[in-house]
Amino acid sequence: MKIRLVRARHRDIGRLARLEAEAWPQALRANKQTIRMRLMRGHRVLVAETEDRFVAAAGFYHTAADPTNETAFPRDFQTFSTMHASTPVRSTYVYNLCVTPDQRGYGSAEHVIDAVIRDARAAGARFLVGDGRCPSYAGAIGSGPDRVQHDPLFRQAIDDWLRTGVRPELQLLIRDPVLRYYYRRLGCEFLHLAAGFLPEDGAAGGFRVIFLVRLGGVWAGEHP
Ligand SMILES: CC(C)(COP(=O)(O)OP(=O)(O)OC[C@H]1O[C@@H](n2cnc3c(N)ncnc32)[C@H](O)[C@@H]1OP(=O)(O)O)[C@@H](O)C(=O)NCCC(=O)NCCS
Repeated sequence: MKIRLVRARHRDIGRLARLEAEAWPQALRANKQTIRMRLMRGHRVLVAETEDRFVAAAGFYHTAADPTNETAFPRDFQTFSTMHASTPVRSTYVYNLCVTPDQRGYGSAEHVIDAVIRDARAAGARFLVGDGRCPSYAGAIGSGPDRVQHDPLFRQAIDDWLRTGVRPELQLLIRDPVLRYYYRRLGCEFLHLAAGFLPEDGAAGGFRVIFLVRLGGVWAGEHP
């Protein structure tokens, strides 16, 4: 099937909402109103489309924020996914990477990610930052699109991280399929554990593991 990469516009909000409804369990979907508000705040959405529908997408925005400052990092998904884009661009914050269940495994997410990285580099971002969900913490096996086994060892690692503040070994973190996906595709670093980031994400126990990819650009606000 032929896939085309496009940047979504305001006229595409209905199709984006349909993609969200196909790809995410009900509690995690963005509706039209949320998508519109994000676009009005300077966010972009890159989409993989077939002839008649959107099959994969990621939302993102460029920001002057410093992701390595954990104290200043957004405490929850609502804030992370609705902050205004800002300059000078230091980072690109990405959220809601998703593919419709029938299109998973065909590489459309990779095309979307590559396009986001190109956009981030073109904007001069040094860091690409995402909120990695970790659905194997509690697992999700139901009628929805999310099908991930609960992994007791992974859950223990996250609980230990929360309790001690010490990041678990990489091999433990990438037991989770989504974190493994990001690690393999992006070679990302896992920065910090965000507890209660998205309480509605029961499979992930509300947790997100914030990750970062160094893009190697020079931040315009940085003085040599
Ligand atoms: C994550 C996602 C975008 C990857 O797209 P894809 O087309 O499945 O990607 P690929 O075929 O290139 O990679 C498949 C790998 O991702 C893993 N994976 C990632 N998320 C998964 C999920 N929610 N369910 C099952 N497997 C998942 C698979 O286990 C597989 O890993 P493996 O090769 O080690 O077995 C897609 O699975 C998806 O939309 N998931 C639901 C939404 C989501 O959780 N997004 C992440 C937001 S942080």
